Amino acid sequence: MNDPAAIRRLYGRSKGRPLRVGQADLIERLLPQLSVPAEGPIDSNALFGDARPLHFEIGFGAGEHLAYRADLLPDHGFIGAEPFLNGVAGALMHIRDRGLANVRLHMGDALDVLERLPDGSLRFVYLLHPDPWPKLRHAKRRMVNHGPLDLIAAKLAPGGEFRLGTDDPTYCRWAMMVMAQRPDFEWLAQSAADFLTRPGGWPETRYEAKARREGREVWYFRYRRC
Ligand SMILES: C[S@@+](CC[C@H](N)C(=O)[O-])C[C@H]1O[C@@H](n2cnc3c(N)ncnc32)[C@H](O)[C@@H]1O
Repeated sequence: MNDPAAIRRLYGRSKGRPLRVGQADLIERLLPQLSVPAEGPIDSNALFGDARPLHFEIGFGAGEHLAYRADLLPDHGFIGAEPFLNGVAGALMHIRDRGLANVRLHMGDALDVLERLPDGSLRFVYLLHPDPWPKLRHAKRRMVNHGPLDLIAAKLAPGGEFRLGTDDPTYCRWAMMVMAQRPDFEWLAQSAADFLTRPGGWPETRYEAKARREGREVWYFRYRRC
């Protein structure tokens, strides 16, 4: 049952409030220049014109983490997937404002792009504040399930890192339980401080800020692909 990779259906919204003129312009003009090709196999050369370390963000929201990381590591390539139009518009604003040349976007399901990458090709995968689907009968929709994790594990290089952040206590427990069943990932926490404190190079996302404002705890997980 626990397999959104097999179910392959997008839940959640793909549009919110109407875009402002400037945002619509970015969607129309900048997005096509940065979009992952619609089909076929993709790799670093196809996307960036050279062989470079690749990072993949699943559900980048408004793109602040993606843009921050891409700015920090200009020689690395960043691929972000997000089906929410307003989020993609937000990411495009960050990309334009920071003048980033090392980001490619897919407006849609992250798994559709992940599966087209070569096995072992990713240095980092990020999943920050995934939709929690708190009801047990919706648990199969959670991104942390063995189907998507099998795909993430296949695409990460040995020694690569999977970063997961959540402010949802049910998701936190669920993720710890599911990840503990995986011999292919090693949890990098040495002490509680490692998952209670935001690690360096991990900027606050919009959802994290909202959770903190509303008095919720946030947990940070780093797993190494064995
Ligand atoms: C709670 S939001 C978190 C956004 C962002 N990561 C943050 O921390 O601010 C979860 C995001 O995951 C996106 N999402 C859900 N399913 C997805 C999928 N299959 N592929 C890519 N993104 C997905 C949603 O559209 C939403 O923007």
